[in-house]
Amino acid sequence: MTDQEKMIEEFFNRGVLINPDLLDKGIKNSLFEKISSEADIMVLNNDYVDLITQSKSLVDWYDLDHYRVNAEKDRDDDLYQTQLLHFQKSTLSIDSSNIPPSSNTSSSSSFSSSLINQNSNIHQEQHFSSLETELEENTSSFSTNISNIDSHSSIFTPQSDQNLQLITSVTIVISYENKPHKYNVEDFTHFFNSRYKYLENILRNRQELQNVTSINRVLAKKEKEEVSIIGLVDDIGETKNGNLIITLEDLTGKIKVVIGKSKKELFSAAKELVVDEVIGITGVCGDKIIFLQNIIWPDIPNDHELKKGENEEYIIFLSDIHVGSKLFLKEEFEKFIRWINSEVGNETQREIAQKVKYIIIAGDLVDGVGIYPSQEEELEINDIKEQYAEFTRLIKKIPSSKNIIMCPGNHDMVYLAEPQPVFYQEFAPDLFSLPNITLVTNPAIVNIGKTKTFSGFDILLYHGYSFDYYVANVESIRIGGGYHRSDLIMKFLLKRRHLAPSFRSTPYFPAHTEDPLLIKKIPDFFITGHIHYSSVANYRGVTMISGSCWQGKTGFQEKLGHEPEPARVPLVNLKTREIKVLRFG
Ligand SMILES: [Fe+2]
Ligand SMILES: [Fe+2]
Repeated sequence: MTDQEKMIEEFFNRGVLINPDLLDKGIKNSLFEKISSEADIMVLNNDYVDLITQSKSLVDWYDLDHYRVNAEKDRDDDLYQTQLLHFQKSTLSIDSSNIPPSSNTSSSSSFSSSLINQNSNIHQEQHFSSLETELEENTSSFSTNISNIDSHSSIFTPQSDQNLQLITSVTIVISYENKPHKYNVEDFTHFFNSRYKYLENILRNRQELQNVTSINRVLAKKEKEEVSIIGLVDDIGETKNGNLIITLEDLTGKIKVVIGKSKKELFSAAKELVVDEVIGITGVCGDKIIFLQNIIWPDIPNDHELKKGENEEYIIFLSDIHVGSKLFLKEEFEKFIRWINSEVGNETQREIAQKVKYIIIAGDLVDGVGIYPSQEEELEINDIKEQYAEFTRLIKKIPSSKNIIMCPGNHDMVYLAEPQPVFYQEFAPDLFSLPNITLVTNPAIVNIGKTKTFSGFDILLYHGYSFDYYVANVESIRIGGGYHRSDLIMKFLLKRRHLAPSFRSTPYFPAHTEDPLLIKKIPDFFITGHIHYSSVANYRGVTMISGSCWQGKTGFQEKLGHEPEPARVPLVNLKTREIKVLRFG
């Protein structure tokens, strides 16, 4: 047996196949040791050796392999390269001293109690896309108004900074501090169990699931009878006849659940399932199988109150500014800056600008560097620090009376695993010096507008990196409008009480005793970005808003079939919860 053959056998015994390109290059003995701490690695090639040697990424090998296989089938090399880049750029070593003092470094907390006011109105699901169009038509494009601006003096005198008294009515409820350590299997088990236990607990309180049985007991049953179980979706498949068959798993075992295609409503509900989500079901058991009758999701209680504030104040939502890109829409963004300074717009629009008290920016402040293949060709500013300096220069033009709250996105200079930390001060020092800015992690929850007599609004910020997975894998979202209907994605996630119910939909940082992507506290606003297409809707008292973007269509988006709709600003009157969308381009 040659040395190479011995090497191949050694790796094979560890469950790893060697790519021939690696054999030509030679393999160092130290790799064996490193491989043993990467339990899920199945193939070893040059790219992977680089990642392992770098020793600073928490790599989901299974996921990366999926992209590699596609790339080798010549289908999607770009996506594979992007994933590689993400892992190359990500790091587990974080200096927690980078967390800014202004962020009040809140708890890496758990929520004491998440179930909310039970006392008031039931709000039906409501999608505002038609309202949005109507408002855009009524909201004259600012370019037409600009010509009028010089001809009359503004009736709302812009506030001068000397007169400003910044009332800090922003409280960070949740912003995570990731404390990396040496990971072992127990970390992951604990992390996943915490997710399962929390969702199971919500489901156990549902009326339909009062008599939940464990899966091992159902497996032991001899007679046909009605059963209800709670489990994690382990697998989704189809029978030869086109019926759905899912495998549910709890802490006692696994069981198959069949859904006949003739039960149309139930079948289409079941088609929405994704792997790893936790659901409750009722059905009739047969021999080690259950015939499905109903699916119960953790969901938002349908009596969740649509809260209204005491004062007529506005909150506006931006995301995906992408400063540094050649495609950054400078003119449109400057138009926005002039509006927020009440320098442009009709009377009503300028009045609203005056009353804006909060501005949320849901990530991707800059375009970043090396985020996707050939990005450098589309960059106007090649240096990440300069990108943040330019971003800060623009943001400084917003009156300092406005509270600005921002979280990072996948283009920002922090690692990709979620929760993504707050921005690093060394890359954006100027940003940290602004008094009206609150920087939080992705995801995070902030409370705004709290007074002695009003509990304020809880705002869940999540950039939305997991969204791509659900657009690609959930038929109802894809057919319902895909990237143009982030409200469908947000509703999908609220129903599952999780920001990324399938493990593969986003990289995660398992440094927490509880899964930080669980939606434990029900927010008043659920704010996202990432898909560069604005959408607003209500679901059970939660206003779901996806910010637009300030970047034209990139070559990468072109390949992925993204059709962005830039330069829109959704805004909400906090007294009435009325939503409008202003168009700046
Ligand atoms: Fe973006
Ligand atoms: Fe993004």
